[in-house]
Amino acid sequence: MSTQHVPEASTMPEAAAAGATAVVPERNQHLRRYLMCRPEHFTVSYRINPWMEPARPTDTALAVRQWQALYDTYLELGHQVELIDPIPGLPDMVYTANGGFVLDGIAYGPKFRYPERAAEAPAFLAWFAANGFDVREPDEVNEGEGDFLLAGDTILAGSGFRSAGASHRELARIFGREVVPLRLVDPRFYHLDTALAVLDPVVGAANGGPERAGIAYLAEAFDAESIAVLRARYPDAIVVDRADGAVFGLNAASDGRHVLISPRATGFARQLRERGYTPVPVDLSELLLGGGGIKCCTLELRG
Ligand code: ARG
Repeated sequence: MSTQHVPEASTMPEAAAAGATAVVPERNQHLRRYLMCRPEHFTVSYRINPWMEPARPTDTALAVRQWQALYDTYLELGHQVELIDPIPGLPDMVYTANGGFVLDGIAYGPKFRYPERAAEAPAFLAWFAANGFDVREPDEVNEGEGDFLLAGDTILAGSGFRSAGASHRELARIFGREVVPLRLVDPRFYHLDTALAVLDPVVGAANGGPERAGIAYLAEAFDAESIAVLRARYPDAIVVDRADGAVFGLNAASDGRHVLISPRATGFARQLRERGYTPVPVDLSELLLGGGGIKCCTLELRG
C-alpha cells in the first residue's frame, strides 16, 4: 500500500490551514458535440412535474433569449452544437436531454412516461437516423440522458419518477457497459440530471483504489441505498447543499473544465472553484418554469 503524506491540521502551516495554498488540480477541457432545440414553442400548458404551473404565464421570447445565451456559450467554449427543429404543440421539446442516450454512435431512443411528450420520440429517432446514428427503438419507458449519465465507463441510471428500472437492463444490453441504478425519492428532482452532475469525464481507478470520478450530487434526492452506493463509489464527490439543489444547481453541463451552472447556485460555484473547475453562470430562469435547466436543454452526442 502506498502511503500518502497528509499533514494533521495542527501541524499545517497557517496559510495552508486557511486554504490559501491548497493544491487545486488543473482541469482539462474535452470538446463536445451537443444536440439542442430552440424553444420557439415553449410554454407550460400541462403539469407533469411540480415545477410546472400552467396558470402562470410564460414568456417564450425570454425563453428563446436565455436559451440562445446557452447556445452561444457552448460555441464560445469551442463545442459543436447541432439543432433539431422545434415542433408546434410540443413545448417540452427544448429539453433535448430527454430525446435519447447516445454513446458509441448508437442512439437509444426515448419512451416518455407521460403522453404529453410521447410525440417527441419519433422526432428524435428521425433526427438520429438522418444524422448517421445507429438507432435503437426502446421497449422500456425511459427519458434518455435525463436519467442516464455517463461517468467514465459506467452509466449512472435514475429511476423512481420517469425511467423504468427495466430500461436500465435494456441500456446495459445495448451498450455493454456497467449500469448503476440510483433511486430518486423527491418529486422536485424527478430526473437523475436534476440531482447529480458528472463533472469530469475521465474516471479512473488509480492503482485499484476507489474511482476518482468528478461528480456532484444532492444526497437528499436519493434513497438510502443509493446514497450508500454513491458514497462508496465516489468518496471525492462534491455533495451540494439543499439551497443549491433547490435552484437546479445540479442541472449543469461540464466539459471537464468549465461547468455551466445556474447563477443562483453560489455555494456549488464555490465548491467547483475549490476543485479547480471554472463555473460559468448561465441563467435559464424561464425554462425552469417547465422544470428544466441547462443540462435538460443539452443532449451529448458521442460518436
Ligand atoms: N417539463 C419537462 C418534463 O417534465 C422537463 C424536462 C426536464 N428535463 C430533464 N432532463 N431534467 O418532462
